[in-house]
Amino acid sequence: MLGPVLLAAARSDRMRRVIAAAPLTRPVVNRFVAGDALNPALATVRALTAAGLDVTLDHLGEGVSDKATARATRDAYLRLLETLRDEKLGDRAEVSVKLTAFGQALPGDGHDIALDNIRQVAELASEIGTTVTLDMEDHTTVDSTLAILHELRRAHPLTGAVLQSYLFRTEEDARALATAGSRVRLVKGAYREPASVAFQEKKDVDRAYVRVLRTLFAGDGYPMVGSHDPRMIAIAQELAARNHRASGSYEFQMLYGIRTAEQRRLAEAGERMRVYVPYGADWYAYFMRRLAERPANLGFFLRSFAPTR
Ligand code: FDA
Repeated sequence: MLGPVLLAAARSDRMRRVIAAAPLTRPVVNRFVAGDALNPALATVRALTAAGLDVTLDHLGEGVSDKATARATRDAYLRLLETLRDEKLGDRAEVSVKLTAFGQALPGDGHDIALDNIRQVAELASEIGTTVTLDMEDHTTVDSTLAILHELRRAHPLTGAVLQSYLFRTEEDARALATAGSRVRLVKGAYREPASVAFQEKKDVDRAYVRVLRTLFAGDGYPMVGSHDPRMIAIAQELAARNHRASGSYEFQMLYGIRTAEQRRLAEAGERMRVYVPYGADWYAYFMRRLAERPANLGFFLRSFAPTR
């Protein structure tokens, strides 16, 4: 029951001000966010790659409401990619982007503004030998995001997509995307969606996840299993074996700070394991979605406000 309340709070500016200003919020945020700026996040990236894990970096931010902020997002990603090039991390680190941070939701020509901004990021990513994955946001953005994906893939075929198993449309989208060279991260979905477009029961979302996994593993693309769920991971491994996929022809992905020991275990077992590393000052909405996913996180967060004895 708490999940929807927290997801509503994730969109509230008033709650953002209260929570972001509370001094005790920070240690809990640090569990999920690798720093307010690129430099501390880089220390995390170095440690993860040294331990045999790959990363995808997310410069936090979403839902920008003016063109200048959308351009600032583009510039932050260009700086990030230049740093990955200088650090020679291009083969281990890619970037994940939210297109609403690139202007997608601006009225009128938001789609074209986002495409123009992200194209420049995709070009630099290709130049330095890495990739961009387009995170998927709420259902109103899916058509535009998939259209931008197709446009980017003309010149940058390894641009990655994200599909959310809670959406009814995803099985069809997965069939269309399970083609040679197509990188698709499958997740369950993290936004509050109406019953007209998405499964509401966890068991239905999980079942759909398995169906889409089957499609992706049987297809010719490159499945990216974005889940912490031990059952989904075991099923993905079975599907990899059944479809004669060698390790390296698919990968697992988990979020920074969640099931860290399992991340390392999978990497040590020879699986390709990528950690999604978010950083930046605009952590509020991302953080609230992580709280919404797991009531235990909320308890941990609220206890940090309790007076210390
Ligand atoms: P589930 O929610 O069933 O959790 C399984 C287990 O994982 C839990 O029992 C718990 O042990 C652990 N766990 C899960 N979430 C946790 C949390 N917040 N804190 C602590 N433990 C937790 N969504 C989206 O809509 N668009 C996107 O682009 C992305 N991108 C993305 C990238 C990557 C790499 C991952 C792993 C996830 C996303 N997501 C996402 C989020 C995704 O949709 C989903 O909300 C979370 O991954 C939680 O779902 P699980 O599959 O982990 O299963």
